[in-house]
Amino acid sequence: MMVRMAYVQRRSQRKDATMNTVKTPRRSFLRATAALSAAAAAASHLRAAGANDRLGVGVIGCGGRGGSHMYAYAQLAQRGVNVRIAAVCDVYKPRLARAADAHKAAAYMRHEDLLADPGVDVVSIATPDHVHGVQTIDAVRAKKDVYCEKPFTHWRQFEVTKRAIEEVKKSGRAFQLGTQGMSDRAWHQAAALIKEGAIGKPIHAECGYFRVGDWGERGMPVDDPNAQAGPDLDWKAFLGDAPARPFDASRFFRWRMYADYSGGPVTDLFPHSLTPVAHMLGAGAPAKAVAVGGKHRYDLEGREIPDTFNMLLEYPGGITVAVLGTQANDYQGTGARGAGGRSPVIRGWEGTITFEGAEIWVRPLGNKPPRKVPITAGEDWIQHFHNFLECCASGKTPQSPADLCFNVQTALHMGMLALQADRTARYDPEKAAIAT
Ligand SMILES: NC(=O)c1ccc[n+]([C@@H]2O[C@H](COP(=O)([O-])OP(=O)(O)OC[C@H]3O[C@@H](n4cnc5c(N)ncnc54)[C@H](O)[C@@H]3O)[C@@H](O)[C@H]2O)c1
Repeated sequence: MMVRMAYVQRRSQRKDATMNTVKTPRRSFLRATAALSAAAAAASHLRAAGANDRLGVGVIGCGGRGGSHMYAYAQLAQRGVNVRIAAVCDVYKPRLARAADAHKAAAYMRHEDLLADPGVDVVSIATPDHVHGVQTIDAVRAKKDVYCEKPFTHWRQFEVTKRAIEEVKKSGRAFQLGTQGMSDRAWHQAAALIKEGAIGKPIHAECGYFRVGDWGERGMPVDDPNAQAGPDLDWKAFLGDAPARPFDASRFFRWRMYADYSGGPVTDLFPHSLTPVAHMLGAGAPAKAVAVGGKHRYDLEGREIPDTFNMLLEYPGGITVAVLGTQANDYQGTGARGAGGRSPVIRGWEGTITFEGAEIWVRPLGNKPPRKVPITAGEDWIQHFHNFLECCASGKTPQSPADLCFNVQTALHMGMLALQADRTARYDPEKAAIAT
């Protein structure tokens, strides 16, 4: 059976499986994507298959990160995974045309049109933060599996976060958040150690993201300072549910500088730091958050978002997590592991877990000798996309899944709302509401 037909059939069966009628089968698409070590065998199979038999990815957002998504899928295809970029979407025609040409893909300016393309089986979302949630909802409603960039939503969109995660879960589609650091086996091995009781009851963790520069904000490329809203630039679609404003080229190209579309370190960078820690702790959503920060180095004209952000989270059951970060200093620490140069430290009642070089160190309290556990594989950002495709085929849960995404995104909303209100943010799980 042709690979794509098998995937499509498997997908409709998985829909049934979510209704407890049919068990998810593992079919030929899974065999083709199962392991890069099997790439040679898969590659010979692929050579026999035509382009239309491959799994079709639709990439939404053809800017910097969208380019990386396309590169990752192209790399996987080269390594023998049965995937192709079927369609691309961007509200800015010049970027759209470049991506469509490079990948011989169908081009759409509206994501709704990309979702209606029968050649698109799964979607990869790399648009600005404030449109991710709505595009995820539309994609799973259109029965597409979703790889969505971090942060899952904009900091003011907690209602969208809740709705989108509900829709993802209801749909039974695969969902991977673009926190590629979750490809590092260290976090999964440490989660298992904590579960086994290696440090007793976990009680405290530290993590963070440190760098120098506002290259991700003010430094974003302005392709055309004279660009105008019109047939080649859909300003309304860019704005989404953000406040209506007249067109502004700086807002369009350098959206990360503006609070309407971005949150700065807490939403841009902390998903990378907090996601592994939240996974290791298995602590759910926080109960309380406090935060301090501001524009302490890059108080440049037009920049609205902080460059320094520090938050403390308290989880039910008494776990505290400190997430710290500044764009004014990038000291990497010793044996740094994970994004932003700060290795997490996890403390329990009976010991501490740290990450040192290629090992996890478990240090019991007192004078007992440490236990060193070799880390089986480090971060591999392309593996994160491969894991997504494997889960699309198998129905297994991806390594940065929806529930974890909800818990982390809730913490990020709470941190930003706490900073804005200069008060403690509290999450009420009964009402699923954040109050400051
Ligand atoms: N995982 C990572 O390490 C990583 C790295 C960089 C960026 N990101 C994330 O990727 C996302 C994109 O960041 P970027 O740096 O590529 O930004 P970018 O501005 O370079 O690209 C965004 C693209 O989306 C397009 N766009 C805007 N609104 C749209 C809409 N409604 N529909 C379709 N296209 C739309 C823009 O025209 C632009 O080409 C962000 O959420 C960012 O946080 C993640």
